[in-house]
Amino acid sequence: MRSAAASATIAGVTEIRVLTDDAQYRAHNTLFRRAMHWGPPTDDQWKLTQPSYEDGRVHAAFEGDTMVGSTQSFASTMVVPGGAKVPHAAVSRVGVRADYTRRGVLSALMREQLSTLPDPVATLRASEGRIYGRFGYGLATRVRFLRVDARKAAIPGAMTGSVRMLDPDTAEKTLPDLHTAAGLGRPGQITRWQGWWVRAFDRTGDSNNLVTVVHSGLDGDDGYVSYKVSEDKDFKHHMEVEDFVAANADAWRDLWIYLTRLDLIDTIEVDAALDDPLAWLFEDPRVVYTKDVFDQVWLRLVDVPRMLAARTYGQAAPVVVEVRDKLLPANDGRYRISPEGAERVDAAADITIPVDLLGAVYLGDTRFSDLAAARRIEGTRFDEADALFASPVAPLCSTFF
Ligand SMILES: CC(C)(COP(=O)(O)OP(=O)(O)OC[C@H]1O[C@@H](n2cnc3c(N)ncnc32)[C@H](O)[C@@H]1OP(=O)(O)O)[C@@H](O)C(=O)NCCC(=O)NCCS
Repeated sequence: MRSAAASATIAGVTEIRVLTDDAQYRAHNTLFRRAMHWGPPTDDQWKLTQPSYEDGRVHAAFEGDTMVGSTQSFASTMVVPGGAKVPHAAVSRVGVRADYTRRGVLSALMREQLSTLPDPVATLRASEGRIYGRFGYGLATRVRFLRVDARKAAIPGAMTGSVRMLDPDTAEKTLPDLHTAAGLGRPGQITRWQGWWVRAFDRTGDSNNLVTVVHSGLDGDDGYVSYKVSEDKDFKHHMEVEDFVAANADAWRDLWIYLTRLDLIDTIEVDAALDDPLAWLFEDPRVVYTKDVFDQVWLRLVDVPRMLAARTYGQAAPVVVEVRDKLLPANDGRYRISPEGAERVDAAADITIPVDLLGAVYLGDTRFSDLAAARRIEGTRFDEADALFASPVAPLCSTFF
């Protein structure tokens, strides 16, 4: 971690500092919110936001004494294909004051943040698709927004386990551990930090209507769903699923039986992985309608050798991949990928790929052959590379940050 004194100077004008005190954190949050065209945090909003400011992980750009740019990260771990968990930085609150944009402030913040991150991988959610590729982030997961016609969505048969509703105090004590135990099944899923849960347990305004139901199977609690219901009109109600966690297929099916048998609910909306099998629960698969598919997580391999070694690979003949990374040249090199793992080699490359696009294929969402078809990468033996990097389940990050 760097001290408050640590800084980097860009063109003698902008300075990047690591913030350390609460007043600066609030100014940082205000700057970010204003960049997003929101007002500054109210005292109540700040109470929910302040716990997510972690010392050593908050960067700001200054021109003289004026704060002009913000970024920060939250410490967590990420699941990679094969199931290993690696330290992960969830990057967020990226903003530049509107009167300082397009002068390289974000570029300076990104360079400094990336070169000081203690984690081998970072992800973020992008407000616009053209911002982050240049900093080595590639689009790595996509999400489907589903709408379920709850009045027609009958699931035959009984539950195999049981469900129970939690009061809010019990939910606060139960969910963090249950999420860690049950919610990390797909590549791309991340553990949640304390500040994330503080916001999740907000009980003010609309949030006071959050309901949590836990599922128990043969081995105890193994999933939960949290949702909010609003009345559209005339006893027609709409449900938004806020959080859905299931460690196994029984928990998943039972929680959907619970949701679709609730009285007075017309529609249910939920975020799901691209390959989510929800439609197969119902006799009529059209009760599940895909409203939209959207890009979700952009992934930056900060330490390429470590990240390539962390995941497992499918069955195919080995492929040598040459990685190019303009911002972090220590990652430049050729890596032999085989079913046994990844190692740096001094051999001719089959495929040359920039680090942002390696981020796009890393979790298995995108294939090398798709990038080649789009003329984004060059080389040969894309089919073997596809098979090596394939993931049996689609990646997802169901923790919004
Ligand atoms: C997006 C934002 C952070 C960019 O900051 P900035 O200081 O203007 O970025 P830089 O000057 O360092 O730009 C670096 C490069 O990215 C490009 N770029 C920056 N923002 C871009 C955008 N929104 N769309 C397309 N290109 C963009 C710049 O043109 C520049 O390109 P170049 O190197 O070829 O000249 C800033 O415009 C902002 O705060 N926007 C509103 C809030 C927001 O969207 N935040 C991101 C949340 S995920």
